[in-house]
Amino acid sequence: MSRPVPGGRVYLVGAGPGDPELLTLRAAAVLAAAGAVFHDRLVSGEVLGLAPAEAELVDVGHRAGEAAPDLDLVAAEMADRARRGAVVVRLKGGDPFVFGRGFEELQRLWELGIPWEVVPGLSSALAAPAAAGIPVTHRGAAASVAIVAGHRRTADWPRLRADTTVVLMGSSCLDELSRGMVAAGWDPSTPAALVAAATTPRQHQVCAPLGHIARAARAAAVGTPAVLVVGAVAALPALVPTGGVER
Ligand SMILES: C[S@@+](CC[C@H](N)C(=O)[O-])C[C@H]1O[C@@H](n2cnc3c(N)ncnc32)[C@H](O)[C@@H]1O
Repeated sequence: MSRPVPGGRVYLVGAGPGDPELLTLRAAAVLAAAGAVFHDRLVSGEVLGLAPAEAELVDVGHRAGEAAPDLDLVAAEMADRARRGAVVVRLKGGDPFVFGRGFEELQRLWELGIPWEVVPGLSSALAAPAAAGIPVTHRGAAASVAIVAGHRRTADWPRLRADTTVVLMGSSCLDELSRGMVAAGWDPSTPAALVAAATTPRQHQVCAPLGHIARAARAAAVGTPAVLVVGAVAALPALVPTGGVER
């Protein structure tokens, strides 16, 4: 039995990594009650299809090369619907608080006095490696994981030391990223894997030493979105017999 989904508030919902079956039950219940859904670009049509046919769908996604959406404007639009009593869903890929600017949006809703609920989602930072058979904290191989944003090239690589490093938003600058890690002390022979479109029918992964991962990804034409996994655990799937189920 699911909890009630009262109107007049904004639900900040994580849509998970892509596969609609990886939505939480709470996310599905909230979507089914939605009057308006403000969604990111990476959220699939199948997930949006869980909202009622009459729900208003508003694409507030950020497109590469375009200005980021104005969060004040998005919050004001959501607040307007919530004040009229609607169940308003702010739907974000993965988990809303993992490189999702979710907290910034919540802050604006607080300022506007709008009630809210956060519905956590399964982040691609953990789901993409898992879907590729990579155990980010395999006992004996890794006791710590760092989750890093790769696109701004601002990661403090020399200070960052975890057994497993998962880099989001780094696939468009993989050469620079891997060179930066090697320059900061990672051994170029460290196993690495790039996992793209995880948990969708387009899932594709390539594994190579860190020093070669950019070239290997180019050769295999690995698509986007993708996460880079660096550490001993990235080599583990190659050690087990195949048998992963096709999506
Ligand atoms: C703006 S960040 C948002 C992350 C999201 N909040 C999360 O928790 O997964 C977008 C990045 O997430 C990663 N990503 C999202 N979905 C993915 C998927 N299905 N497979 C691989 N990487 C994914 C990529 O690194 C992409 O550049």
